[in-house]
Amino acid sequence: MNRLTDKTALVTGGSRGIGEAIALRLAREGANVAVCASQSTEAAEAVVEKIRAQGREAIARQTDVSNAESVEALVTTVLDTWGKIDILVNNAGIARDNLLMRMKEDEWDAVLDVNLKGAYHCIKAVTRPMMRARTGRIINVSSVVGLMGNAGQINYAASKSGLIGLTKSVARELASRNITANAIAPGFIPTDMTAKLNPKIQEQLIAQIPLGKLGSSEDVAAAAAFLASDDAAYITGQVLVVDGGMVM
Ligand SMILES: NC(=O)c1ccc[n+]([C@@H]2O[C@H](COP(=O)([O-])OP(=O)(O)OC[C@H]3O[C@@H](n4cnc5c(N)ncnc54)[C@H](OP(=O)(O)O)[C@@H]3O)[C@@H](O)[C@H]2O)c1
Repeated sequence: MNRLTDKTALVTGGSRGIGEAIALRLAREGANVAVCASQSTEAAEAVVEKIRAQGREAIARQTDVSNAESVEALVTTVLDTWGKIDILVNNAGIARDNLLMRMKEDEWDAVLDVNLKGAYHCIKAVTRPMMRARTGRIINVSSVVGLMGNAGQINYAASKSGLIGLTKSVARELASRNITANAIAPGFIPTDMTAKLNPKIQEQLIAQIPLGKLGSSEDVAAAAAFLASDDAAYITGQVLVVDGGMVM
């Protein structure tokens, strides 16, 4: 499918895992793509090379989404390169798991700063160009944990629930400018973030999934490409759950 020909996309946390899959899928559908990561710059450059090999343009920039100036510099670079941003995917995220009683304030702050404040910074930075263009797609990567909660993840769950409220409010504020905002809530997807989970817990998780298997980064990327495309033009303020039926 070539649903995104001539579109420009910015994917945060696009150096690996779900963000890499989203960047590659948007490019496969025709978009030029900018990716960012705060540390894994070599991996981000490798994603750029894969996109260029598909015949699309791509750039990578080291960016800390929790830092407003860093995000503004990134958005300026994207605008200088392609003159517009059609699609923003707020995918960058971290986890610092701990039980409530043991959770340190810096673990709380780090997760909220990247997962929630990072999305706020990025949305704020792209809103003006999207408003001027009278078109835009904002996609926030939340989680089923933001819908269900999870013991040991109060900070992560709060950030992912927060993203859903942010999504719905942005959808209401920007709808009149033809800008949509939607969230994706993936279930359990094997990536670096989830690599530490022991096999026994993975088996227990799979037992709760009606489709009987874990999802893939590509499953999430397919949902992102749909929400970024004209096929989703009349969809805004929604949470698309990609979890094999675990939460329903
Ligand atoms: N895997 C799952 O099961 C799952 C389920 C539901 C939701 N999610 C969400 O999906 C998103 C991607 O997760 P993943 O599993 O692909 O994680 P991952 O493999 O750990 O990748 C996270 C990405 O975010 C980047 N990142 C982290 N902090 C950043 C910062 N301050 N500024 C810019 N980029 C930053 C990382 O690069 P650097 O480290 O170099 O900065 C990396 O590119 C996250 O929002 C996560 O919460 C994942």
